[in-house]
Amino acid sequence: MKDIKRVAVFTSGGDAPGMNAAIRAVVRNALHNDLHIFGIQRGYQGMIDGQIRRLETSDVSNIIHRGGTVLKTARCPEFLTPEGRKKAYENLLYNDIDALVAIGGNGTLGGALQFAQEYPDIAIIGLPGTIDNDLYGTDFSIGFDTAVNTAMQAVDRIRDTADSHNRLFFVEVMGRNSGYIALHTGIAGGAGGVIIPEEDMDLEELVKLLKRGTARRKLFSIVIVAEESRMGNVFSLAEQVSKRVEEYDDVRVTVIGHLQRGGSPTAFDRVLASVLGFHAIEALLAGQTNVMVGIRNNQVHHTPLEEAISKPKKPGKELLRMAHILAQ
Ligand code: F6P
Repeated sequence: MKDIKRVAVFTSGGDAPGMNAAIRAVVRNALHNDLHIFGIQRGYQGMIDGQIRRLETSDVSNIIHRGGTVLKTARCPEFLTPEGRKKAYENLLYNDIDALVAIGGNGTLGGALQFAQEYPDIAIIGLPGTIDNDLYGTDFSIGFDTAVNTAMQAVDRIRDTADSHNRLFFVEVMGRNSGYIALHTGIAGGAGGVIIPEEDMDLEELVKLLKRGTARRKLFSIVIVAEESRMGNVFSLAEQVSKRVEEYDDVRVTVIGHLQRGGSPTAFDRVLASVLGFHAIEALLAGQTNVMVGIRNNQVHHTPLEEAISKPKKPGKELLRMAHILAQ
């Protein structure tokens, strides 16, 4: 087992609130263990471009409450090529880096796995940093809770205007092909319906659900739609429904979009990110590599990167059943 002395941390892919808290924990625990710690700017792009610099404890002061990522991030097509990964490897060798902590989502950890297979002399620990919460091996990923809270607050506001105008609103939330944000926002926001990619729902069912509400003189409603729902684009869905359910005064669509990615992380995300960042260093010191550090049933859990990115993670059927019942 190689002695770990010089560790580099980076964030990659879509940013997620709480990434800064994770960076802070990685840096502080590394320094606590007398390791040299480096930050790579702009994820894999910075690794290829050699944007690597030494970090001290003061570099991560006053960031725990900030959204985004102080290391910046990027989506990097060049890292998908063997030439790009070779350049990245050479830059790591140049800085004598012997371990990486990669914070990001599916694409980030997939890139880390590919890199690890080609360059096994560099140890890699992944941390789940994505609002989508779609990585297997952790109950929650960094940023998910904040994104849900942001979406829920938006839904609370929409509820006021929907109620005042007797309108039906379709609210699209992010999550790529995962329905976690939609489901949790729907439950927390008291939505009249939730449409997620993991479930087949057809127009008839949705119409029936809404008609149940209008039959008891519920004159407004909010339906949360995951961005990659199988019912198609939220605007065309709204149009189709408006032709079938005429009891509302009007139908409107709100796409919350990137608002969900920004903002100060919730206490939950700060604590989660701190625990995971701290344990990324513990894992490296214990000789672990190619694993994602996550939380399962309140315990720190290591999952091979391969499983984390390939095994399906779906919202529980029971939670979905409950959401539909409570929506009535
Ligand atoms: O993976 C996080 C995420 O916000 C997804 O929910 C969304 O589909 C995607 O990133 C948007 O990516 P971009 O910011 O590159 O448009």
